[in-house]
Amino acid sequence: MYQDKKVVFSGVQPSGMLTIGNYLGAIQNFRTFSDEYRCYYCVVDEHAITVRQDPAVLRRRTYETLALYIACGLDPTKNVLFVQSHVSAHAELGWILDCYAMFGELSRMTQFKDKSAKNADNINAGLFTYPVLMAADILLYQTELVPVGVDQKQHLELARDIAMRFNGVYSDTFVVPEGYIAKTTAKIMSLAEPTKKMSKSDENENAVVRILDPRDVILRKFKRAVTDSGSEVRRGEGKEGIENLMSVYSAFTGASMEEIEREFDGRGYGDFKAAVGEACADALAPIQAEFARLSADKAYLEQVMKDGAAAAAHDAQRTLSKVRRKIGFTELRR
Ligand code: TYM
Repeated sequence: MYQDKKVVFSGVQPSGMLTIGNYLGAIQNFRTFSDEYRCYYCVVDEHAITVRQDPAVLRRRTYETLALYIACGLDPTKNVLFVQSHVSAHAELGWILDCYAMFGELSRMTQFKDKSAKNADNINAGLFTYPVLMAADILLYQTELVPVGVDQKQHLELARDIAMRFNGVYSDTFVVPEGYIAKTTAKIMSLAEPTKKMSKSDENENAVVRILDPRDVILRKFKRAVTDSGSEVRRGEGKEGIENLMSVYSAFTGASMEEIEREFDGRGYGDFKAAVGEACADALAPIQAEFARLSADKAYLEQVMKDGAAAAAHDAQRTLSKVRRKIGFTELRR
């Protein structure tokens, strides 16, 4: 039924409460593909355990992330929404692709270097091979397009390299995927250190705005956002903080950067920060209401998980069988 549609795949780790970085950089764009593409949106719990997780919290966040997908407008009847560990083909292809990924190229992954520095007491092998599992996620579904924030670009390039390498050895097996990276929201910055990415696992709560933060918290966080010592709302050298807030305001209101500069000409940072907070809180309010409604209906979320896992497992199997045959694994006849 879906063979004539091109495929979109993306994933979010249930490793923290999602931020407006996750929303604006990735999830917000997901639904734009739902009509024209066969879309798979995955809660990647297997990726999350590369960093130590509390089991009860991981379980809760997995449900929350799924509920947020739906609350952000992803209709489960139009998109395959599922949890990675429910489809064993991901881990299976992940292992196979480990054998086609090089130590040297994995060593160059900047996210591995960053996370190793942050988790010096737990530099496990999964943290190292993380991008190979991500390649498996993508390649399993013959994905054409992967909507992500710019921080995932290097991982995506590795997925392409692995696909081309495998295709080179065994003839065409995988579609070589392209990234889809939003222009102004590809990297939303931390509100505390505007030269750093806003990250859901940041220990400083004031650095991140979470999709589910209450209105007063959102307003307060933007009010406290670190900017420069100037007072003009415009882009420029040393104005990363303001430029970041402008991107957020632009994304939530639809105003262009030029229009924002004009709107706030002569009005100072205080006014502007309040306006960004209001725009953000207004945009998130309906998502929060829908999330609250969905969270109260665990049976529904479980049904979505089940249906999504069945559909994804069915589709993944096609690629996995092909891969197994090509590399020379024996088949058991039924
Ligand atoms: P994760 O869970 O860190 O982030 C989910 C998505 O949000 C984007 N993102 C951002 N975009 C803009 N500004 C930010 N500050 C910001 N922070 C996060 C990320 O780029 C991502 O698109 N490895 C992935 C998950 C993954 C995946 C995949 C993605 C696993 N398999 C296959 C695509 C395809 C990750 O850790 O995302």
